[in-house]
Amino acid sequence: MAVWYFVVVVFSVLSGLASADGQTNVTNNPADELVAILNSNRTAEKESSLFDNPGLACLALQYIKAYEGDCGEVGGPNAKKPADSDFAQTFAPNCGVEASSLSPITGRLLGCETKYLKPSDAFSDILIKDNKSLEILYDSNHTEVGAAVSGSDGGSPYFWCVLLSSGGTNSSFLLEGGVAKVTRPGCFSGANDDCSGGAGGWSRTPPPVWKFAVGASIALGYALGL
Ligand SMILES: *[C@@H]1O[C@H](CO)[C@@H](O)[C@H](O)[C@H]1NC(C)=O
Ligand SMILES: *[C@@H]1O[C@H](CO)[C@@H](O)[C@H](O)[C@H]1NC(C)=O
Ligand SMILES: *[C@@H]1O[C@H](CO)[C@@H](O)[C@H](O)[C@H]1NC(C)=O
Ligand SMILES: *[C@@H]1O[C@H](CO)[C@@H](O)[C@H](O)[C@H]1NC(C)=O
Ligand SMILES: *[C@@H]1O[C@H](CO)[C@@H](O)[C@H](O)[C@H]1NC(C)=O
Repeated sequence: MAVWYFVVVVFSVLSGLASADGQTNVTNNPADELVAILNSNRTAEKESSLFDNPGLACLALQYIKAYEGDCGEVGGPNAKKPADSDFAQTFAPNCGVEASSLSPITGRLLGCETKYLKPSDAFSDILIKDNKSLEILYDSNHTEVGAAVSGSDGGSPYFWCVLLSSGGTNSSFLLEGGVAKVTRPGCFSGANDDCSGGAGGWSRTPPPVWKFAVGASIALGYALGL
């Protein structure tokens, strides 16, 4: 009896650990999760659900890369913003987005954190944190969205970028050959892919120690209405 009890206890502890570990679901894509959260938040406010455009999302990942890992360039009075011309000259070619299909960007949300947050926390804690970003989120002019997340060179800081557009959902940000060029590191939405790290490696399950770390971290959110 005692042995049986022991086995049951050990098994419970192990399965407890296993399920705690399984909370970080690496079989899905954090950028797609962010879009799902954003759309459910919009529909709760009686706004339309936005089309998840992989071409636009790939551009969002290039937008992040333009910051070259510098979290301090996000937000604040001296906030950097990539030049509009970068979309046609750099971002689109990097993604394989046809230049002629580039459409107006009607909003941008950008956030940066030294630690990796789950998409729901990135949404509420760094991307949507003031009236300006709420106004951008609920703007009726948007028809489509693309989201991306990336660490810098495989690690901290982590950037989240949401680009919103009023383009036609089947005529804007079209991809040559129908598939976005994969650029690492990072994940973007709309491509029906699992972003589990793979070659990039950055999105692997964070080490458990991070869950308990209460170290210094900075969070910056930046909303740009356009
Ligand atoms: C991961 O998430 C996807 C989509 O949310 C779900 O279908 C799948 O069952 C999850 N996998 C695990 C191991 O939790
Ligand atoms: C939408 O997101 C905002 C910002 O995180 C939050 O304050 C609000 O409660 C959310 N609305 C719904 C219906 O979840
Ligand atoms: C944000 O908007 C709400 C409702 O429109 C308003 O009551 C509040 O004062 C605003 N907050 C700021 C900081 O402007
Ligand atoms: C929608 O776009 C029109 C034309 O660009 C602009 O005048 C209007 O202010 C926009 N609406 C919102 C809610 O931003
Ligand atoms: C775009 O989609 C609409 C509605 O789904 C359809 O009527 C239209 O023919 C499509 N346009 C192109 C160029 O595929």
